[in-house]
Amino acid sequence: AEMLNRIPVIWLHMAECTGCSESFIRTDAPTLDTLLFNHISLEYHETLMAASGWQAEENLARAQEEHRGNYLLIVEGGIPTAAGGTFLTIGPHAHTGLEICRTAAAGAMAVFAFGSCSSFGGVQAAYPNPTQAKALSEIIQKPVINIPGCPPSEKNMIGSLLHFILFGTLPALDLYGRPRWSYGLRVHDLCERRGRFDAGEFVERFGDEGAKLGYCLYKVGCKGPYTYNNCSRQKFNQGTSWPVQAGHGCMGCSEPDFWDVMAPLVEP
Ligand code: SF4
Ligand code: SF4
Ligand code: F3S
Repeated sequence: AEMLNRIPVIWLHMAECTGCSESFIRTDAPTLDTLLFNHISLEYHETLMAASGWQAEENLARAQEEHRGNYLLIVEGGIPTAAGGTFLTIGPHAHTGLEICRTAAAGAMAVFAFGSCSSFGGVQAAYPNPTQAKALSEIIQKPVINIPGCPPSEKNMIGSLLHFILFGTLPALDLYGRPRWSYGLRVHDLCERRGRFDAGEFVERFGDEGAKLGYCLYKVGCKGPYTYNNCSRQKFNQGTSWPVQAGHGCMGCSEPDFWDVMAPLVEP
């Protein structure tokens, strides 16, 4: 088969846990190999590429040069900004994450923040945020498409990426830079336990009779009524499950500052 014209992608890792990459590689529609062989050319990704050390740094510089103005930038992770960004340095020349993001963003055709870390700062930005970790949109001058979630589902990441690749346009975004197709409704609006909520059937304690019967998790801390995401529809791990299905309330992980504003994440 003829090789399609693949769009170069540079994927950077800042202060994060790589859970977003883990979620991303679970994709089954398209499969990861279809995505990599037909749609994108993954030029740089610290946990998926073979190169390391000097070679990795050179690859990044070369990809930015060769594909200037034509590559997509994906950033996973918040960007520490205190002390000139030196809480995060990467590679043999110890460039700061701040510097690496700004350089890569300057030559990018479009910029995506995958996960709540790069969308909103992430758990490392929790009060009192000693490293002053920030969202990508706060440290660069270009518009950023935010795909928050901790992690986001593979469908939300790849759906928005493919939308851009296939149509050449960005999906409609909400106030926080999130695509409306995936973050337009609340978790509570789409939840399979919503009937239990409406009927006043609540889990009072984890492990009680209501928990066994699949009652609503609101009283044990579910933040579904305050959270915009499509988890109950798209689920995770190729549609296997999602938090509420697994018996735990939503923690609001796709909302700005969820680590502070949604606390406590679980009611005892
Ligand atoms: Fe990990 Fe969550 Fe940050 Fe993704 S958003 S890198 S899953 S901490
Ligand atoms: Fe709403 Fe959460 Fe109850 Fe589902 S479990 S109905 S999201 S409060
Ligand atoms: Fe996150 Fe809540 Fe979905 S915690 S994964 S937005 S159910």
